[in-house]
Amino acid sequence: MTEQHTGIRVTVDGAVATLTLDRPEIRNAQDPVMWAAMADAIRSFDDTVRVVVVRGAGGTFSAGLNLRLLDPARTGEPGNLVDVVALSDEGARHAIGVFQEPFALLADGPFLTVAVVEGHAIGAGFQLALACDLRLAADSARFCMKEPALGLVPDLAGTKPLVDAVGYARALEICATARTVEADEALRLGLVQQCVPAAEVDDALAALVGALTAHDAVAVRETRELLRAAPGRTAREQRLAERTAQVPLLRRAVQRLG
Ligand code: CAA
Repeated sequence: MTEQHTGIRVTVDGAVATLTLDRPEIRNAQDPVMWAAMADAIRSFDDTVRVVVVRGAGGTFSAGLNLRLLDPARTGEPGNLVDVVALSDEGARHAIGVFQEPFALLADGPFLTVAVVEGHAIGAGFQLALACDLRLAADSARFCMKEPALGLVPDLAGTKPLVDAVGYARALEICATARTVEADEALRLGLVQQCVPAAEVDDALAALVGALTAHDAVAVRETRELLRAAPGRTAREQRLAERTAQVPLLRRAVQRLG
């Protein structure tokens, strides 16, 4: 399927892969065809890719789910959700599990991930940004977990990283009210790690990617694994994980210096 049909553009430049949502005419609204293409692209990255950048074309990150997929008149079109809800409960859960795949692959892959958020990140858009390790925001960024306002829950793997980023109470307040979090508040909350004027986004991204790829690839990857897993482990388990990760790295360092 061509990129025009999937709605994403994929480029790999040395150690950096970029996934660009490329449907600016509908504000990069997402659909299952796009999610499948994203999952395929992410699975195709080999271990030379150290950083995956996710961004949206045309000054909007993503307006979330393509709401046309909820239209009963469009049943039978690829990805139509009217067809999904007609399945058994188990079948519908399985379908949503497939939709979640690119979000999980971004979170679980062996690379660092950076969402570049310009303009709106709504619903599935907010969750896509949350699937990434780091969020670099333009001052135009606006986050909204719109699902409860539509009678839905956020179901694209976004609830856990949101709680991890801002804590349970703030996550609940943001989701239950479906309010918009502007860039400056997102920075204060730790939802984004950096916020720059829109005109400076590309320079800031280049600097960030340069810094993230400046050091030993294995050490950075192992450190990421340790940090990601830390909230789910006891202190004792974490110390064991640190020792386990360190032994081969220490051997390698001694060999290099010796
Ligand atoms: N799905 C389909 N089309 C969309 C869309 C969406 N989510 N968001 C915008 N578009 C389309 C509009 O229909 C419009 O199309 P036409 O030109 O054919 O009329 C075009 O994109 C431009 O939209 P606007 O004129 O509204 O653009 P704007 O810049 O003034 O506003 C916006 C941008 C704030 C994102 C606004 O379009 C908007 O609020 N969109 C809907 C957002 C939304 O509710 N998303 C669903 C979130 S819930 C979710 O994602 C579910 C889930 O995961 C379970």
